Formats: sequence, C-alpha cells, structure tokens
Amino acid sequence: MNIEEIAEHLERTGYIILDQPFPDLLLTQLLTRCQDDIPERFHAAHIGRGAAKVQIDSIRGDVISWLDGADSIDQSYLARMEILRTGLNRALFLGLFDYECHYAIYGTGAGYAKHSDVLLGKKNRILTTVLYLNENWQEGDGGELVLYDPTSIEVIATLAPKFGTMVIFLSESFPHEVLISHHTRRSLTGWFRVSGS
Ligand code: OGA
Ligand code: MN
Repeated sequence: MNIEEIAEHLERTGYIILDQPFPDLLLTQLLTRCQDDIPERFHAAHIGRGAAKVQIDSIRGDVISWLDGADSIDQSYLARMEILRTGLNRALFLGLFDYECHYAIYGTGAGYAKHSDVLLGKKNRILTTVLYLNENWQEGDGGELVLYDPTSIEVIATLAPKFGTMVIFLSESFPHEVLISHHTRRSLTGWFRVSGS
C-alpha cells in the first residue's frame, strides 16, 4: 500500500492495519534488536510523567528500550518512518514534526490496561504506530491489541501481534489495551508528534 492510500484510509477511519509494510530482512533485524539479553538496554515502562510518573506492573507490564539513532538497524527503520512522516504531512497537512519510538517486551502474564496515549496537558502525540515482531503467534497466545472507538465503549478492532503487522491510529481518538500475553511479546511502538507542548 502506498502512502497516499494510507493517508486516505487514516483520514476516513482514523486507523489502519497493515499486513506487512516492511521487508522480512528488516523485520528480522529489528527482532534481533528487540532482545533484553543485555539487561541495561531495557527498563520498566512508566505511566504518566514528571512527579506523577509511576510504575505499576498490574497496569503496564512491559519493559522498553528507546531506539538508538547511532544503530544501523534502528536507522533503517527510522528512515522508513521518516518517509511516512513526510508523505503523511504532504497528504494530510498534519504538521508531524518528529517520531519517537521504543522497543517493547511483554513477558508472559503481562499486558497494558486500557489507556490513551495522549497524556493530560501534553497533546503533542498525533499518530501512534505499533509494529509487531512475533513469529508463529497463535490464536490463544493472548497479547492482542484491542482498539476502542473514541467513546471508549465499542471495540473496533482486536489485533494479534503477528510478525510484520503494523497498526497506525490517531493517538487521541482511540483508547486501547494490550490483553494479557501468554508468551513473550515483542513490538516497536512509536509516535509521530507535533512540536511544542
Ligand atoms: C503503548 C501501547 C500497544 C501494543 O505502548 O502505549 O499501547 O499493542 N502498545 O503494544
Ligand atoms: Mn498505548
């Protein structure tokens, strides 16, 4: 699917699921980067910001590692997302300014309770992207992303975190949750942002 089609779909529905937008080689390389065998690279994810920053395993159970602009694999992913950023700006006049992104690993039994990616008083996240890196993910393995409609009542999509699948959605419009995972679950989560607070 080209960027114009992605833009058109996002404009119409606010979200899009892409089966495999990246080549296998890049996905395999990203998977090698999404390993917590070097313990210093990954740390527990936190909720909120500033003084309100807390880590509560029952709400959010993943460990994360921000992408490293000096790493060549991270660079090739970021270069592709840069093309997407400029393409979406051209098509939708979103004024997307940058992209922040981290690897995430959910261990067995971890999930992320229903939440919004736009924190109170900090509205610069416009689009959320999640790329999944789980080979041979089976029904029953859990770890699905559940997207709710903006009123937060109706489920509009339930997505298994299969290798190569990417979802993009308007950060402010779609509350979402990660169901308890029954296996280690790996992904890359990022946000296109506008500048300022
Ligand atoms: C997040 C998030 C969804 C997923 O990190 O904010 O909602 O499917 N991730 O991993
Ligand atoms: Mn989220």
